[in-house]
Amino acid sequence: SIDVKVDSILKIMTLEEKVGQMNQYNGFWDVTGPSPKDGNAAKKYEDIKSGRVGSMLTVRGVDQVREVQKLVVEESRLGIPLLIGFDVIHGYKTLSPIPLAEAASWDIEAIKKSAAVAASEAAASGINWTFAPMVDISRDPRWGRVMEGAGEDPYLGSKIARARVEGFQGKNLDAVNTIAATAKHFAAYGFAEAGKEYNKVDIGTVTLHNMVLPPFKAANQAGVSTFMTGFNELNGIPVTGSEYLLRDLLKNKWGFQGFVISDWASIEEMVTHGYARDKADAANKAVKAGVDMDMESSSFVDELIGLIQTGAVREELIDDAVRRILKVKFLLGLFDDPYKYCDAERELQTIGSEENRKAVLDMAKKSIVLLKNENNLLPLKKNGQKIAVIGPLADDSNSVLGSWRIASEDSSGVSIVEGLKQYTGNELIFKKGADLITNKPTFINELEFNTTDKRGFEEALSAAKAADVVIMVLGEHGFQSGEGRSRTQLDLPGVQQELMEEVFKVNKNCVLVLNNGRPLAIEWAAEHIPSIVEAWHLGTETGNAVAQVLYGDYNPSGKLPMTFPRNVGQIPIYYNHKNTGRPVDPQPGANMVFWSHYSDIENAPLFPFGYGLSYTSFNYSNLNVEKESYAVNEEVQISVELSNTGDYDGKEVVQLYIRDLFAKIVRPVRELKGFQLVELKKGESKIIKFSLTSEELGFYDQDGNFTVESGEFEIFVGTDSNASLKTHFLLKE
Ligand code: IFM
Repeated sequence: SIDVKVDSILKIMTLEEKVGQMNQYNGFWDVTGPSPKDGNAAKKYEDIKSGRVGSMLTVRGVDQVREVQKLVVEESRLGIPLLIGFDVIHGYKTLSPIPLAEAASWDIEAIKKSAAVAASEAAASGINWTFAPMVDISRDPRWGRVMEGAGEDPYLGSKIARARVEGFQGKNLDAVNTIAATAKHFAAYGFAEAGKEYNKVDIGTVTLHNMVLPPFKAANQAGVSTFMTGFNELNGIPVTGSEYLLRDLLKNKWGFQGFVISDWASIEEMVTHGYARDKADAANKAVKAGVDMDMESSSFVDELIGLIQTGAVREELIDDAVRRILKVKFLLGLFDDPYKYCDAERELQTIGSEENRKAVLDMAKKSIVLLKNENNLLPLKKNGQKIAVIGPLADDSNSVLGSWRIASEDSSGVSIVEGLKQYTGNELIFKKGADLITNKPTFINELEFNTTDKRGFEEALSAAKAADVVIMVLGEHGFQSGEGRSRTQLDLPGVQQELMEEVFKVNKNCVLVLNNGRPLAIEWAAEHIPSIVEAWHLGTETGNAVAQVLYGDYNPSGKLPMTFPRNVGQIPIYYNHKNTGRPVDPQPGANMVFWSHYSDIENAPLFPFGYGLSYTSFNYSNLNVEKESYAVNEEVQISVELSNTGDYDGKEVVQLYIRDLFAKIVRPVRELKGFQLVELKKGESKIIKFSLTSEELGFYDQDGNFTVESGEFEIFVGTDSNASLKTHFLLKE
């Protein structure tokens, strides 16, 4: 068995070789070029050759990977192949929508397929391990990394976590088109205070266990190969040094069999946090907590041997870490063939293939959310119309790719103008109106916005005036979300708001196509603009997907995976909040203040979680729970009738929410506990069935123990988290 093979290798390894397996370096130089002679690259190069490295990240492409594997296999004493890690976040070169957008599809099979496509491209390029999925729940759209997750809900997030792990890893990790996955960032990184990147997190055990941890648990149950820690501290302890999270919970309680990698330099950063005295102390704390591999801080490779020699760290801890790492290498089949992901012909055939482009187009269409469509302005008529396309993002083939797309080529996306041009029955005129960014946008630099130059307004306005319909493409640049991209304002940056208002003055037939990596606070637009399409950053095929939706060749069915606030002051705003003791105005109209609200804005968000329209309409009726009361371990059976009452065939995400009315821990006012994506022809009806088990009806108490309590539950079924069709049942001991 693999365990026996792992042990046989472990037996012959020196301590230095073992510690080497626990070390991961970033490969920032051309491995196929001349060997580096000095500096950091030279040190790393020597370490690779002498078996002091277990994994590389960012090295990609068959030629580079083959070369770096060769260094280890041919030069180091044991020739243990490297894991080649990479951030394959939403595609490799052919990009699917950003993960938050994919989550808006609520289409679990499609999300799984998208991960499988990404894995096949990455694997064809030499990579065998992705640092995805990010399964961090977040309620704060100020945080730039919400683009990389599945939104605010742990139930939806868990289904998506599982799908992504299964998509990346496939049924067989040993296959040449699958790669090992990583559940990250363990844990609670998404609850950074004030949405500020890398900020501390203070949350209680109830929120931790019920909101943050479920998607990680789901990823573990799906067999994810690795977990990554985070940059954050949680209640005073950096998660990279958290024995509770990594050792007690993940490895012991959950029985996780893979290995844990730190986030980039997060071991050494424990010194900066003020949690470790120095690098050696940081290495000591991390390894004891349960980190098995150090990403890029050299703390393990520099310090562990000394720590073992002084007796500060037991060698069994090292053995356990190395066992876990070697096991993943065996499962990937690297010991049989270290070059199995290095087939130049496969790389050529797979990357950017017709089939992959089709798959990402399909995913992109499924990710679009129709937020508003007054007077059925959409879908557009296909002939005889004058269409004006306005906005700085409309012809941008770079921004549409979104953040986290390191391997893809700049400007390799289909812009929205390009997509619309394919509908030749209409006359199309494009006027940008204004620039959004004034410097070169990249993954790492701070963007500079155009806040003054409005010279393009005039020609945009005259195009708008002459048009039958105006399509405005506005929002955030693709690099405005992602790591290090927190915002305090969630408006349309630069001069876009002004441009939109001016355009609307001259033509009311406006469609706003939003490009963004997070929920935006667009109250003015929601009130005035008749049609709004949430198009996120949809990846390589963006323009084609948007055009097909605008022209009705695809009927949108996406639903928001995150609440859209009215303004930043409402944040954090999320559907599964608590009731408080004073949830409603006791005397409406009496001008009383003593209830849970703001004085200057209503409590309701701009668009709730789960919200999204279709070109057709759906009606819900006959919500039934089979019995009045159930025993705690019985399955609760629920049915509802869904009818397509509009003029188009379409899809609807039927959502089921519960409320546990009274419990030993106050439960949220609503919790998503079931959903189904249902396709109905116009005029068609269907009975949709749900069953709830103790898994859905229980919760974690203050000590993190799962419990199911008897009592009364309400059920709401409908089109979003405001679903009003309601019934109830009793759960009895
Ligand atoms: O995978 C990422 C992580 O999410 C953030 N820090 C860097 C890692 C590797 O690029």
